[in-house]
Amino acid sequence: MSELMMLCKTAEVTEDAPIQVVVDGLPPLAVYEFNKSYYVTSDICTHGMAFMTEGEQDGNEIECPFHGGAFNFVTGEVVSMPCHIPLETFPVVINDEYVCIEKP
Ligand code: FES
Repeated sequence: MSELMMLCKTAEVTEDAPIQVVVDGLPPLAVYEFNKSYYVTSDICTHGMAFMTEGEQDGNEIECPFHGGAFNFVTGEVVSMPCHIPLETFPVVINDEYVCIEKP
């Protein structure tokens, strides 16, 4: 069984207020809540050096604060230009009130 990396407590994330988490060996990550589930993506926009957690969450979408590009953070797919490269997503495991991902 692979090892889990704890990112944050579930209570630290609320819908419409994603948070950034930095862990060793990975780019900054964004943790989101949507419909009582948690999702993790890279926090760096694929169009430039913007943090997605500084953008606006709308349902299951996150809009970049720089040029208005947007992604579905559940799937990583682009939903609005100028972005065209999907956002990296990480499968989430909830373990004892913590949002975790598997260690890559
Ligand atoms: Fe995100 Fe340009 S840096 S849309």
